[in-house]
Amino acid sequence: MKIQGVAYRSVWVDPDDGFSVHIFDQTRLPWALEVLRLTGCDEVAEAIVSMKVRGAPLIGAVAAYGLALALRVDSSSDAMERDAARLASTRPTAINLRWAIDRMLTRLRNTQAADRVRVAYEEAGLICDEDVAQNEAIGRHGLALIEQIANAKRAKGGEQTVKLLTHCNAGWIATVDWGTALAPIYMAHDAGIDVHVWVDETRPRNQGAALTAWELGSHGVGHTVVSDNAGGHLMQRGDVDMVIVGTDRVTRRGDVANKIGTYLKAAAARDNDVPFWVALPSTTIDWTISDGLTEIPIEERSAAEVTHVTGRASDGAVTSVQVTPDGTGAANPAFDVTPARLVSGLITERGLCDASAAGLAAMFPDFA
Ligand code: MRU
Repeated sequence: MKIQGVAYRSVWVDPDDGFSVHIFDQTRLPWALEVLRLTGCDEVAEAIVSMKVRGAPLIGAVAAYGLALALRVDSSSDAMERDAARLASTRPTAINLRWAIDRMLTRLRNTQAADRVRVAYEEAGLICDEDVAQNEAIGRHGLALIEQIANAKRAKGGEQTVKLLTHCNAGWIATVDWGTALAPIYMAHDAGIDVHVWVDETRPRNQGAALTAWELGSHGVGHTVVSDNAGGHLMQRGDVDMVIVGTDRVTRRGDVANKIGTYLKAAAARDNDVPFWVALPSTTIDWTISDGLTEIPIEERSAAEVTHVTGRASDGAVTSVQVTPDGTGAANPAFDVTPARLVSGLITERGLCDASAAGLAAMFPDFA
């Protein structure tokens, strides 16, 4: 994606810098666009745990490069299995992480130790390139949905802006490029469709307020940040034409895990007849499980993310302030599961399908 005319991906390797892996430190956004240079497996693991890199497809891609960095130190099979397990355990909910590590291991287990570093970089690069292509395809399929809404509005007359609502950040910075939920929105904007995005702030870490707002602003897409509890009200007023979110894991029957609060938006969307779409590459589908509510592990993060809020003070310093009384306990489940019955459909790289076992099997007969 371009920022001030320069095209970026959210992860890249620099051959002129010892093949180190470069990412943007997402904990510094939107205040600063800082590049972080990762040179070893421990640094990669730390960057994922601390959410300097985040977003389901991106953590998979970065972890794949993490394994390449680890192999530079020790390319024996024992070390490879150990480092792969360490990287895979950094975050539990997004399936892309495990998928990427499994894909790397499948190739590397059949590779001589002496060739593993080269092959690992190559495979991680392929994972990145495929993610970009898949997200671009998701953008095109999702664009058709937005075009339909725009055409219906044109036929009806009156207010012409297509009003979308999204939760968390499923933009280019959460993937290698384009994003999932935001890809159709970027393409609609680029195609000249008048879109406006309600951006849920997405407490506790504010990925919407910090990252989605930054992304949309950088691309010139009209948007307004709203508190997490505003979505239902906006839908009741007829101010949302479509909800579109990303996901961290979709089960074979179409249940959707995504950032905490997504389920409430889906419930409100159903109550107000607002279409609720989920955008995902096939790497986010976990074909091994069916019931999302009982089978998807939900990450429990630090209470401090709830008791404190990070922001920029008027002197420019980025700081964390406490918003609860001293000693108050806090729970912090980071994801929830939206049952398939509340999902209008899935936007995948192959096209649109029902959020159901039959819909997914018909779209992906080679995986199901
Ligand atoms: O905890 P995060 O910020 O990694 O959670 C991210 C999300 O929930 C995204 O919506 C999801 O990963 C899709 S990203 C294309």
